[in-house]
Amino acid sequence: MAKWTIVALPGDGIGAIVLEQAVRVLDAAGVDAEYIYGDIGWEFWRKEGNPLPERTLKLIEKHKIALFGAITSKPNEEARAELDPSLQGKGFVYSSPIVGLRQHFNLDICVRPCKSYKGNPLNFIRRGNRDTIEEPRVDVVIFRQNTECLYSGVEWTNPPENVYQAFLSHPKFRANFGNVPVNELSISTRIFTKKATERILSAAFEHAEKYGYRSVTVCEKPNVIRETSGLMWKLAKEIQKNSYPAIKLLNTNIDAQMMWLTKNPEEYDVIVAGNMFGDIASDGFAGLIGGLGFACSAQFSEDGIAVFEPTHGSAPKYADYKVSIVNPIAMIESACMMLDYLGEKKIYDSIRQAVADVIQEGRVKTYDMMKMQGKPEVIDNGAASTVQMTDAIIEKLR
Ligand code: NAI
Ligand code: MG
Repeated sequence: MAKWTIVALPGDGIGAIVLEQAVRVLDAAGVDAEYIYGDIGWEFWRKEGNPLPERTLKLIEKHKIALFGAITSKPNEEARAELDPSLQGKGFVYSSPIVGLRQHFNLDICVRPCKSYKGNPLNFIRRGNRDTIEEPRVDVVIFRQNTECLYSGVEWTNPPENVYQAFLSHPKFRANFGNVPVNELSISTRIFTKKATERILSAAFEHAEKYGYRSVTVCEKPNVIRETSGLMWKLAKEIQKNSYPAIKLLNTNIDAQMMWLTKNPEEYDVIVAGNMFGDIASDGFAGLIGGLGFACSAQFSEDGIAVFEPTHGSAPKYADYKVSIVNPIAMIESACMMLDYLGEKKIYDSIRQAVADVIQEGRVKTYDMMKMQGKPEVIDNGAASTVQMTDAIIEKLR
């Protein structure tokens, strides 16, 4: 029997393509794992009216660890129209299986490392003193609360009477919105709970301690969003004081952080934020290290479910190329995060080093690394295919 059983969720479009490449790398590196493939995505919506079938949830429940490519989501109208004719008009409503996974397993901790590879032509550069060009080394890990905040779906347009009355009881609502006709009101709530906020903060500090980062930065907006951002900042101070006194605690506002991103990105270590600001901050930092072809992520629940996936989606426009051109590194890096989680340190190091070697050598580059527009012709113009990039990484494994 294999040492690890991993649920592989290819999903749609390039999700399936890059997942296959990641598994090739894991196999070549000697990971002793068995992969059980799970159904997820558009095909299952069309055929079954459910993009995240119960059997897939059961598989993940059983094996706890999933490696996930990406899925395609489409607006409700289109989703309805593409449903198998035998299922139409039977009340099936599409909802994103990613959100479904997050909610079902309460995957409340999302980790998104953004570490620049030496020699990556997509690395951020800036002008230094006397017109020199500097390429700061970025090594930031973003901890994003994954289940609450503005993304929790507690929202209304034309809110029902009891909700409206409750809002009216707030003096600021009354003063600023009391005269607005109720059917012209749209309200999305930003909910933070103490428990989830403590969990994401503790995870961030724990990571900083384990991997030797000097600081944790809370990236919110407590001076304005006093209750929710304020809660996170208050709890962060307590956790730092009580459990991690050796780690520096910093506080930035999300807006200022986006500006400082290009000014001094090398000065940040671990960043922690609520769902929305964490989403923004992680895309911002990912842009400094090469963008979607390099952005990896992991999601964890309290009871030990872990899902590893690239940040990018299914990029349908590249899905059906005869020779795939997309960059498999984000997916391979996500698989590396899984190895780190499993404690497979040696194999983790060897894959990371192989990726670093290929990038530094600069001989094999996918189209994004060559700043080309994605088209089938990029291969003729010197870009590596998805498979060639994977081959190059496998060749470097030691
Ligand atoms: P996307 O991430 O799929 O693609 C955006 C663009 O980024 C692509 O056109 C391509 O230029 C670039 N890109 C993405 N992955 C790349 C890679 N590995 N190598 C090189 N370039 C890459 O986002 P988009 O186009 O907004 O969404 C497409 C579909 O994916 C939608 O149906 C959306 O709902 C879904 N989606 C799924 C996600 C997931 O499964 N976690 C996340 C984001 C979007
Ligand atoms: Mg995003």
